[in-house]
Amino acid sequence: MQKLTILGATGSIGVSTLDVVARHPDRFQVYALSGYSRVAELAEQCKKFKPSFAVTADQKSVDQLQQLLRVDSPETKILCGVEGLCQIAIAPEVDMVMAAIVGAAGLLPTLEAARAGKKVLLANKEALVMAGSLFMKAVRESGATLLPIDSEHNAVFQCLPSDYSSDNRCGAQKIVLTASGGPFRASPLEALHSITPEQACAHPNWSMGRKISVDSATMMNKGLELIEACWLFDLSPDQIEVVIHPQSVIHSMVQYVDGSVLAQLGNPDMRTPIAHAMAWPERINSGVANLDIISIARLDFEAPDLERFPCLALAVEAARMGGSAPTVLNAANEVAVDAFLKGDISFLQISEIVAQVLGDTSIVELDTLENVQSSDKLARQSAVSIIQRSH
Ligand SMILES: NC(=O)c1ccc[n+]([C@@H]2O[C@H](COP(=O)([O-])OP(=O)(O)OC[C@H]3O[C@@H](n4cnc5c(N)ncnc54)[C@H](OP(=O)(O)O)[C@@H]3O)[C@@H](O)[C@H]2O)c1
Repeated sequence: MQKLTILGATGSIGVSTLDVVARHPDRFQVYALSGYSRVAELAEQCKKFKPSFAVTADQKSVDQLQQLLRVDSPETKILCGVEGLCQIAIAPEVDMVMAAIVGAAGLLPTLEAARAGKKVLLANKEALVMAGSLFMKAVRESGATLLPIDSEHNAVFQCLPSDYSSDNRCGAQKIVLTASGGPFRASPLEALHSITPEQACAHPNWSMGRKISVDSATMMNKGLELIEACWLFDLSPDQIEVVIHPQSVIHSMVQYVDGSVLAQLGNPDMRTPIAHAMAWPERINSGVANLDIISIARLDFEAPDLERFPCLALAVEAARMGGSAPTVLNAANEVAVDAFLKGDISFLQISEIVAQVLGDTSIVELDTLENVQSSDKLARQSAVSIIQRSH
């Protein structure tokens, strides 16, 4: 029986994880769940899965949750804030931590889980983007097992031999990350000026949280994934190719020196990579329907248009710059996407703000958590002041 903490249980990945857990009550037991603003949803999850701990945003939501669980789940202890998140990430009882908080807010508890040597199921790509060298050092030193949940990285992981490492590439030459191209892949360029948050969040193939949906529409998501892949598989940006594949059936590929290309295919449903990582190295039923290759009939590929998707070009540039550049890129993007979702800036301003912050900020080496946090903070301040000036 594996005991599991889910950081970000109320989100899209959290809900899919609980769906897989519910199919295997003999294998997985929920130790702790965290939510933030969706207290009622967290309460329902606690009633169903009876965790030992639940973590929410602040004291006010602790009181709300306590009230909601008074009758059905009084044994669940309720904590709040980052301290609570770190506590449930490192508890000695916990075997596995699903890191599914969105954005920089997930960094500290995810890093703590890695430092504590847990099996870390990484959905929160932003943690690796903003603090890749610290994060990978923590994994190496603690002996933690790091398994990718992003469907692309999970696909690459499945296509690489188990003894792949930076000292033994096993003939792997290049990674091909596939991208759907999001909802605006074929829209006229002039139509991008007036995109609304609802349009940007309506992804053609995947159902996801709002921030990653906007990142998919700008293709910043693929840029963040490229940086994530550099850290996970110890590659340079030039060893990773991004290819648009609108059907989202091939989740990524590995090209080998002998000309072979291995790909992982499946329906676009995050329960596949989640179940793969949860049961690894075994396989379990995820609840995802079998792929009907005949009805799919064709698979298309094209190169990404960097004029349409400047965020992808900016992320590749940040990956090449190294040091704090990915941290700055991520922070500026989080602020810009949040402003877009609130209706404060237009869709096209997202890339403009990220470009300006990246261009204006001096890039430093990141060897401590304090360095990461101060780079993140400065970039956020810079993005906020650009947005304020634009009004
Ligand atoms: N969704 C996907 O298909 C997918 C695929 C690959 C990778 N990912 C990655 O997985 C992560 C989660 O994505 P998602 O789509 O599941 O996002 P989501 O639906 O927006 O869920 C985010 C989760 O984080 C919690 N949260 C938000 N702000 C927080 C804060 N300041 N402190 C603590 N918790 C906070 C939310 O709580 P409340 O909801 O209660 O506010 C929710 O549980 C992201 O890093 C994303 O890039 C997602």
